[in-house]
Amino acid sequence: NKPLKIAIAGLGTVGAGVIKVLSDNKDIITARSGRAIEVCAVSARDRHRDRGVSLAPFTWYDNPVDMALDDEVDVVVELIGGSDGIAKALCEKALENGKHVVTANKALIAHHGTELAKTAEAKGVSIMYEAAVAGGIPIIKALREGLAGNGVERVYGILNGTCNYMLTNMRETGRDFDVILSEAQDLGYAEADPTFDVDGIDAAHKLAILTSVAFGCEVDFDGVQTEGIRHVSPVDIEFAEELGYRIKLLGIASRQNGSVEQRVHPCMVSKKAPISQVEGVFNAVVVEGNFVDQVVLQGRGAGEGPTASAVVGDLVDVARGVKVPTFSVAADKLEKLKSAPLTGH
Ligand code: HSE
Repeated sequence: NKPLKIAIAGLGTVGAGVIKVLSDNKDIITARSGRAIEVCAVSARDRHRDRGVSLAPFTWYDNPVDMALDDEVDVVVELIGGSDGIAKALCEKALENGKHVVTANKALIAHHGTELAKTAEAKGVSIMYEAAVAGGIPIIKALREGLAGNGVERVYGILNGTCNYMLTNMRETGRDFDVILSEAQDLGYAEADPTFDVDGIDAAHKLAILTSVAFGCEVDFDGVQTEGIRHVSPVDIEFAEELGYRIKLLGIASRQNGSVEQRVHPCMVSKKAPISQVEGVFNAVVVEGNFVDQVVLQGRGAGEGPTASAVVGDLVDVARGVKVPTFSVAADKLEKLKSAPLTGH
């Protein structure tokens, strides 16, 4: 079979990670895909930075958007980030030119997912974004495939590793917010602008995407009621602990009589609940389906290996010829469920 040729835009830790996964696991990936998956082109801000991988075999593009016009390319992997600008231009152009898109860009899908899905479906190609939600946890595929027989009542979880790391460390050490934030930034998990993490915006991007896949409704980022962890202090965490609770930043989407309530805010979670034990940079997602009951998935929500793992999972689907509607249902059939106002914590 003909190899699947991919172009990678953005060579930060995830981009370099994708090149490594495809090379280290080449044989099993080829066997599982029924064909080889080969990088043929790359683009990044800095051509000469040492990434621990050689770029010599690949065609270099100064402007990533030009990769959308390369006849050799079957799939564009967008790892640039940002809800607009060059990432959006590249994805739109790639889809319009009949190329599949695989992205880790949660802001892009949260803001423009429905419109990109409509373009993809009109052109008979896929846009896939498993890596955009909870890093290495395959929650999008779980909702689309294994749980597809269920009506989802509620989906919720720990969707931001930086906040979970900060809350865990505030509890364990009693140190202040700012000290622990700079430690989290050093770990490389925080967003370029860490206010996206601490103010709950990153978790809200991911929740808006999850909601759409779980409930078959349009992506509605503006409908997410969002509050971050800025006002949580070590003393709040200590009192919660004494009462038998952990404080977690949760993203929660639940069905409410014809609408969906979406919210992100710090929650008191009983220490008896499995997700209260999910600490540090880990993420967890809980799905409540009307036949399956409760399913809990946990794992690393960011970082080179886990995020690259999710990107390659999507590439294997494309290589196999898997065609799924972008949001579990076709983009033109998405329900117009109105976002419900907050009904209380
Ligand atoms: N800043 C994000 C986090 C990275 O801390 O979870 C993964 O999306």
